[in-house]
Amino acid sequence: MSSKRYRNALIVATILGALASCTEADTSQEENEIKTNSGDETAASVEFNDTYAEGLYQDHCAICHNGTIPEAPTRETLERMTSPNLIAAMTDGVMAPQSVRLSSFDKEILATYLGGAADDAARRAIDMPRCEGDLSFSREAAWNRWGGDLRNSRFRTADMTEITADNVDRLSLKWAFGFPNAVRARSQPAVTQEAIFTGSQDGTVYALDTEKGCVWWTYYAEAEVRVAPSIKPDAQGLPGSLLFTDFNANVYSIDAETGAEIWKTSLKDHPVTTLTGSPTLHADRLFVPMSSTEVVSAFNPEYECCTFRGGVVALDAKTGERYWTFHTVAEPQPTRINAAGTQMHGPSGAPVWSVPTVDEKRDLLYFGTGENYTAPANELSDAIIALSLETGELVWKNQTISGDTWNGACGSTNANCPEDRGPDFDFGAPPILTTLPNGKDIILAGQKSGMVYAMDPDNEGETLWSARAGMGGYNGGIHWGMASDGETLFVGIADTPGHHMTVGPPRHGVHAYDVETGTPIWSTIEEKLCDELNARCFPAASAPVTATNDLVFAGGLDATMRIYSAQSGDLLWSFDTMSELETVNSVPAFGGSIDSAGPVLIGDKLIINSGYDKFRLLPGNALLVFELEEE
Ligand code: HEC
Repeated sequence: MSSKRYRNALIVATILGALASCTEADTSQEENEIKTNSGDETAASVEFNDTYAEGLYQDHCAICHNGTIPEAPTRETLERMTSPNLIAAMTDGVMAPQSVRLSSFDKEILATYLGGAADDAARRAIDMPRCEGDLSFSREAAWNRWGGDLRNSRFRTADMTEITADNVDRLSLKWAFGFPNAVRARSQPAVTQEAIFTGSQDGTVYALDTEKGCVWWTYYAEAEVRVAPSIKPDAQGLPGSLLFTDFNANVYSIDAETGAEIWKTSLKDHPVTTLTGSPTLHADRLFVPMSSTEVVSAFNPEYECCTFRGGVVALDAKTGERYWTFHTVAEPQPTRINAAGTQMHGPSGAPVWSVPTVDEKRDLLYFGTGENYTAPANELSDAIIALSLETGELVWKNQTISGDTWNGACGSTNANCPEDRGPDFDFGAPPILTTLPNGKDIILAGQKSGMVYAMDPDNEGETLWSARAGMGGYNGGIHWGMASDGETLFVGIADTPGHHMTVGPPRHGVHAYDVETGTPIWSTIEEKLCDELNARCFPAASAPVTATNDLVFAGGLDATMRIYSAQSGDLLWSFDTMSELETVNSVPAFGGSIDSAGPVLIGDKLIINSGYDKFRLLPGNALLVFELEEE
């Protein structure tokens, strides 16, 4: 990997880290009261490229660091320093007077530009406890993709997990792993009997021993890996390769036993394309959802908003070659001039950050979309979409909210905010394809609006029933995912405050519905724990939930992992991940808000990643493995 690419990716990731990015850079900051504490927002939408960073260096530093002043270290020396050290020198070190004209964003841009190679070397130098011998596999992957199966059910049958209502009180922390260089742990692990595969914020992908937590291998991606890897079986059906994506729009295939790279390709069709939704592997095809950070670019009134087109790309899983690309909006055209005199464009947006779902019976791919960034709105935003697996052609769509145009400018600088702004009610949770006890297939979709929909795959996705599970919000309503066995649908509700188009009271917690009729079965609404606008007060289920025959697993924004009875909704077990944890790799770690990554079950274990730094949520850098203790 070139350190230059790593550096560029870091620039974007760092700035978005300070700003928005969230669920796809798709959620507002201004209006959400649990919001980011960022400062200078417009600075974030400059072009984050080498030319810009080099310009900063030439304007502010070169005059002394180009070798003319002997006391000043040379540029080569500066490039040996890591970005945190460079920032420290510019912020409160000897270079503070020389850097007064730089905003904190420019300091970050400059530091990650100069320090990229050193940053990359630093993450490679981290000493991790290595496992002895070589990783090899004895059986097929237990949890091989984000949703656990192609239908994104997030449901585990009794032969897949030993954890039950009878023994859940014996579940206790077995080991924890601390991600270095991280304040969030967004990647959901994929798991085999032998190894836990997870991405991380500094782009390191780990294969950790499932029992002990020692490191089998590491792979260094160019940028943050937020997704769950898909495990591709080899000819014997054993784990063969891992497929995953990074924040800089790269797709990777690496060997599951060694971490050696098999192929790598870029989907950067647009300068701000990013990959947040986990890709779905089906046979020899990888379906990659495409989203962007353009909602953040929109903050800048001088940014020509907006031209990103959401979509899904189908790749050959063996080679990375592209089969087809589906866009959710047509080619954007110039529209109006904004209040700052900048040309605007549309239609745009309708990003895809939900995990695609495969319908093998009908040869269809289902996924949900987000809002249009600018006018005119089109008919594929805030929709569940069905494409032909083979050709990528649109087969049907069910748009539940029309006219939803929204971007990050709404509520801040405003010049780029659409005149008739919508609610930003994406479908971020993947549609679940499930089968009723009577054999009828049904699609279940949950939206940030708080609404749940049942759609008919045999009738062009027509809505069969709908139910309001939550009041809605920028982080949901339903944010990342639901679970179902075909009889009951389990819905986690975030309902964080601050949205202008909510309906009814907040219902943060977990709710169960009858899949056939949409009739509520039980509702567990968690009490707010305190009155401050602090995530610690919100036991909100924004993370995807996971279910078994008798349990529902839900991570909370308040950093607490909870397990409920699937029959009654009663709380049976909970664990606060926020304390400092003793780690197997000696990297100091603490849990935080459990958000985009859901609970993973294998045998006697529960595995979660904990920590989410955006939106004034609780940062953390921990992977936790719980196990049933002996009786
Ligand atoms: C007016 C001249 C001048 C300018 C402009 C200047 N520097 Fe320096 N810089 C120096 C000198 C002289 C030193 C050595 C200071 C010392 O060791 O006391 C130095 C030291 C440093 C160091 C080492 C700090 C340390 O703790 O040892 C860093 C890093 C650095 N500069 C970065 C920058 C960056 C980045 C810029 C542009 C934003 C910049 N400098 C602009 C003159 C300059």
